[in-house]
Amino acid sequence: MIGKLNHVAIAVVSVDAAANQYKNILGAKISKPLDLPLHGVKTIFVELDNTKIELLEPIGENSPIKKFLLKNPSGGMHHICYEVPNIQEACAKLESEGATLLGSGNPTIGAHGKPVIFIHPKDFNGTLIELEEV
Ligand code: CO
Repeated sequence: MIGKLNHVAIAVVSVDAAANQYKNILGAKISKPLDLPLHGVKTIFVELDNTKIELLEPIGENSPIKKFLLKNPSGGMHHICYEVPNIQEACAKLESEGATLLGSGNPTIGAHGKPVIFIHPKDFNGTLIELEEV
């Protein structure tokens, strides 16, 4: 069921500062900033030929990124996003294999306007995984 690597997400203190680094030092193409209050994040995407880097800055007191930055004050890799053709089938398969789906356990609409779900890192080698239906 796994498809392409959609993006790698990096938690940062400031998406503007991080995006400027990617743009000015590495010459990367960056997207406009996007606030996702439902997810507690502000995002900017770095657009590469073969994938994207999702820069995540916390917004709001309950942002999951805020807690992450307390443990990793200079930022760090936060999650990896893989594409799947059918997210409901993917969720059913994962649950039948004992994986823990985060949040309500049902997909929500992610940064690209498509359904996403997160899998608990304890079930996947200590890596937080996002699945996005594409
Ligand atoms: Co993501």
